[in-house]
Order: sequence, then C-alpha cells, then structure tokens
Amino acid sequence: MSEIRPDFTIEQDWRGYSDEEHAIWRLLFERQQRLLAERACREYLDGLRGLGVAAHGIPDFRDLSDILDKATGWRIVAVPGLVPDDVFFAHLARRRFPSTCFIRRRDQLDYLQEPDVFHDICGHVPLLMNPVFADYMQAYGEGGLKASGLGHLERLARLYWYTVEFGLIATEAGLRIYGSGILSSAAESVYCLADPRPRRIRFALRRVMRTRYRIDDLQQIYFVIDDFQQLFDATRPDFTPIYREIAALPDLDPGVLLEEDREFDCANPSAKIGGQKIGPRMSAAQV
Ligand code: PHE
Ligand code: FE
Repeated sequence: MSEIRPDFTIEQDWRGYSDEEHAIWRLLFERQQRLLAERACREYLDGLRGLGVAAHGIPDFRDLSDILDKATGWRIVAVPGLVPDDVFFAHLARRRFPSTCFIRRRDQLDYLQEPDVFHDICGHVPLLMNPVFADYMQAYGEGGLKASGLGHLERLARLYWYTVEFGLIATEAGLRIYGSGILSSAAESVYCLADPRPRRIRFALRRVMRTRYRIDDLQQIYFVIDDFQQLFDATRPDFTPIYREIAALPDLDPGVLLEEDREFDCANPSAKIGGQKIGPRMSAAQV
C-alpha cells in the first residue's frame, strides 16, 4: 500500500487493480443496476448517470472527482479503510468524500460490515451530484466536529446511519431508496421496500437520534423522508440543545414503536400524515 498521509489519504493506485477485481465490480454493478432501476430514488439514478460510473470496472477517482467537482464542488479522496471520526468529519466539512479502495472478495458479494470501494463509490457518490444532498453531507461533517467536542457523537452517528446509510424517501411513485448501505446491497434493496417485517417510520430528528442500530443484519426499522430539502431543513438547527434534551431520555431499540411514530402507509404513499397503527406500540414513558 502507498504511504498514508497525515490526513489519512492515500493514492488510489488505479493501475494496481487486477482483472478479477474489476470483474467483481462489474458483477456487483450489473446486479444492482437491475434491482435499482425501479427502487432507487430519481436523484440517485440521475447522479449515477451524470457520473457515467463505470459499468466496465472500478473507476479512477480522479475522473469521478472532476465530474463531481463541476456539479457540486465535491471531490473523492482515497483512504485505507475506516478513518478516525474527526478526520472523516473534517474531510466532509471540506467537501471531500473519503472512499476506500479495496473491493470485497467474490465470496463476500452479499454482505460486508465494512465499506469497500463498491459501497463508497456506487452507494455514496452518486447522491453527492445532487446540490441539496451535497450540502447536507458538508453540514454533517461540520456537525460531527461539533458533536465530538460535546460528547454526543453516538447520537449524531445514528442520524447518519438512518439517513445517509439506510434512508428511504417517499415519492409520487411510492417508496424509494436513497441510503447507500441499501443501494450497495442486493438483499437489502429488495427487503427494505417489500418485506413485511421492518417498520417504516416517518423521519423525526429526535426519534432517529435515540434509536440504536445494528451493523450485522438487515435493518428492523427505516425512517422515511419526503425529500432532501425536508432533511436538510430538519437538521439545520443547532443540535446543542437537542443533544441535551434527548440525553435525558432512554435510547430506543430498533424493534420498538412509539405512540407518536407515524408509519409510512405503503398502500397510500401520498398521505402526508398518519399511516395505520399496526402492531404493539409503547408510549415513550415505557421504554
Ligand atoms: N445542525 C447540526 C448541528 O448543529 C449540524 C448538522 C447538519 C448535522 C446536518 C447533521 C446534518 O450540529
Ligand atoms: Fe457508507
């Protein structure tokens, strides 16, 4: 591996990828293309098209960055794997998306607990072509630097998890995917929209920040936004008093529903309020 710089970036070494690695990319890419045409949100599909991301193999980050930079001022920087939180936030705050370079092995096509280049590039980067989402990610980076100073990183990390990684969006055509953790997973792309087991709840900032998550299985709960502007507006206020407010409340398990939760009604997707009440609910005082 090339030298690791003080900001944890490395060279991608695009020439060093083997034919097998490019072949794994193509396999993943083609499989997700088929699944996502009817499941991913429009903004994602537009971004993917705009980038021309590479059905033919692992893309060179420099080519992608040039296109991305023109669209929204973001660039991709190569990193060796997960980087320290403050380093990650500092990159986002400067509109630089840290991407891993390695690709999963053929026997790991379906689930990986750590990000690889397919997740980072095919999952995250297309949405950075969208101006509102691009601003949200920068604001998240700035918010991360602040949250770590305040000791509330766990709550902010949940917001990232349930939006950037596993978010769903309500559209005229029905529920669609925008979370990268879903977009890069064949099984979850199908499960998150069609399976009766997981709960799909209207996005509410404090609710999300209180909800724990699992990194080793399909999600039990998804939060549904109306559009990226709603997400950006809901997260614009200073979180300092909000962190303090919810620090007094218990964390929530992903399997639990609250009285005030508004379930997304798949039968009536345009309904802005409500959703039928199904299943056991707990009042906030019980949990
Ligand atoms: N408004 C948040 C804060 O004050 C920053 C933020 C914006 C965090 C968008 C996440 C997403 O900390
Ligand atoms: Fe990710």
